[in-house]
Amino acid sequence: MAQEDPSWKTFFEENPKPTNFDKNVKLIQDVCQHAAVKKNRVALITSGGTTVPLEQNTVRFIDNFSAGTRGSASAEYFLDAGYQVIFLHRSKSLEPYSRHLVGRNIFDMIEVLPDHITVGDKHQIELRVVAEKYQRHKCNLLMISFNTLADYLWLLQATAQKMQILGPLALLYLAAAVSDFYIPTSQMPHHKIQSSGGPLSLSLQLVPKMLAPLVTLWAPNAFVVSFKLETNETLLETKSKESLLKYHHNVVIGNILNSRKVYVTLVDSASSSAEEIRLSASDLENGVEIESKIVENLKIRHEKYYANHKTG
Ligand code: PMT
Repeated sequence: MAQEDPSWKTFFEENPKPTNFDKNVKLIQDVCQHAAVKKNRVALITSGGTTVPLEQNTVRFIDNFSAGTRGSASAEYFLDAGYQVIFLHRSKSLEPYSRHLVGRNIFDMIEVLPDHITVGDKHQIELRVVAEKYQRHKCNLLMISFNTLADYLWLLQATAQKMQILGPLALLYLAAAVSDFYIPTSQMPHHKIQSSGGPLSLSLQLVPKMLAPLVTLWAPNAFVVSFKLETNETLLETKSKESLLKYHHNVVIGNILNSRKVYVTLVDSASSSAEEIRLSASDLENGVEIESKIVENLKIRHEKYYANHKTG
């Protein structure tokens, strides 16, 4: 009896590739090939929310809360830790380095002099710190953007496949907030939905979980870290462990929507209990970001994984 295609394959058959796909995949491939030759570690960081369009000519779409804080902050810490970073992010969500200026008015930070403009005295130090970091790391940072769920999944698949060449040097850090429900292109109206049609009922299909093919087929030797988001703390550890058992990847970081900036739990396949990372009052006073501690922790785990792979 002929076997049915797995649902993830059907998803890619039914949803077209994003624009500029081939150009972006070439950029990703170049980074991976170059890093493989130099034996550099590469982190793919996914960041921000995915949209789910309701119309093919999209006027309306379903979105989610993610601002890309986790991903953009983590990208900076992975760069500090010596990784090359592929930053796959939702267009117009927070980006490494420039995130420090979001919500600020640039015109309040500059001084206009007769023949040139300059940064005002009181902003010199903070801008210099960020600008110097950006200048130092920008050659190790490739930024690729997406909007829709389908764009994201196409780029995730391609990036993971291109990272295969890196074997255990590759680290995937899946911090994007990925929709679990969508409308297949074939079921989407071509034009704007008219309100004259009365109240709107939507039927959304389940998005296949892409962690399964990612871990087994696309990047089987990579160190894969996924995030588990919950709103009920009592479910967090169980759900994170279930995810690890189901997909057999390396680490699940559990976080609760309202406390995600100060508290996360890490579960891995090697230990039965979860490790907690929680910011202290003094961390908060000193402007420590939880992502710095997450990345520090993962760097050590990834080093061990790499050492085991080399000798294993
Ligand atoms: O951006 P911020 O505002 O800083 O918020 C950060 C965050 C809360 C979004 C981030 O820390 C986080 O938790 N991201 C994962 C959110 C999520 O998609 O959780 P989930 O429980 O729905 O999915 C679990 C895992 O399955 C995720 O790693 C996801 O990449 C993966 N997945 C999800 C859907 C899908 N169809 N296939 C998948 O493989």
